[in-house]
Amino acid sequence: MELTVRQNTKNKFGQYFTPKVFADFMIDLADISADSKILEPSCGEGVFLKLLQDKGFNNLTAYEIDEDLARDFFNVRYESFVSANIDEKFDLIIGNPPYIRWKNLEEHLKQELSLNPIWNKYFNSLCDYLYIFIFKSIELLNENGQLIFICPEYWMNTTHSIALRNYMVVNGYFEEIYHFNETPIFEKVTVSIVIFKFVKGKTERQKIKVAKFYANQKLTKENLNKLKFQQELKEAEYLSVSQFKQNDRWLLQTDDVRKELKILETNCLKKTQNTLLNLFNNSTLEFNTIGDFFDIGNGLVKEFHLN
Ligand SMILES: C[S@@+](CC[C@H](N)C(=O)[O-])C[C@H]1O[C@@H](n2cnc3c(N)ncnc32)[C@H](O)[C@@H]1O
Repeated sequence: MELTVRQNTKNKFGQYFTPKVFADFMIDLADISADSKILEPSCGEGVFLKLLQDKGFNNLTAYEIDEDLARDFFNVRYESFVSANIDEKFDLIIGNPPYIRWKNLEEHLKQELSLNPIWNKYFNSLCDYLYIFIFKSIELLNENGQLIFICPEYWMNTTHSIALRNYMVVNGYFEEIYHFNETPIFEKVTVSIVIFKFVKGKTERQKIKVAKFYANQKLTKENLNKLKFQQELKEAEYLSVSQFKQNDRWLLQTDDVRKELKILETNCLKKTQNTLLNLFNNSTLEFNTIGDFFDIGNGLVKEFHLN
């Protein structure tokens, strides 16, 4: 079996291990040389470490909170990436960070976050454990360093992740995003997954290469490569999307569609004094919703056939 979900009582550390074919695909997205410094911040069983080593990359550092995992690798530090005092920078940070909603976090992980300066400054109890992994990883990148992660996509447009998105917009740009809607990748995970490649530094590309794959079917190495080279594939869609802006929700749509959605959103904005005062702080904007104008109800329609 390519993917293992550890059968501990509650999967308290968010252990969903990346299938080899996806890890391999992600490593091939990186622009690196043999001596590049590479970090895997939450290495699990070590799928990325093994493949990187096989491909001749040996300047590797990894963190993992669960001491039972990745015992065959000499470069794993068994401590929490969240609190680890790391005084070096990396050319590539790659992996599949844990994603756990605050309310589902173990008490000791909540305690750890509540003592963390990044968490306290940018996040709160509506945020996900994942956010600090993205944020801290970007802090640890060299200029022009690359962050390649596979993770759920919800932080790209939810209101409470605006601080993370703004931090990313200010500190770099996206080269590529792969969006897998219903594609089964991790067992028992039903959220939409993305793979993204983010580069730290001054924006060098106006457009992000986006590939969407919406079929409910497992992806093979061949089909992942088709997505990479934007070759014809049933149920795949390729877009060129402008770099995201501060205070925006990140929509993987063409510029024309994004413009129309912006107009719709602006027209739905409640014109209260509070809203106008908060125009530059998205988290407190108020919108009219369909329910403000219509009654919404569930119903059953029964057909009668009169003969
Ligand atoms: C989604 S799994 C992915 C593992 C591996 N990167 C992979 O792709 O197969 C996330 C991993 O993060 C580890 N983890 C959870 N919290 C952590 C922390 N604070 N520091 C380091 N690792 C952590 C979990 O034990 C788990 O192995």
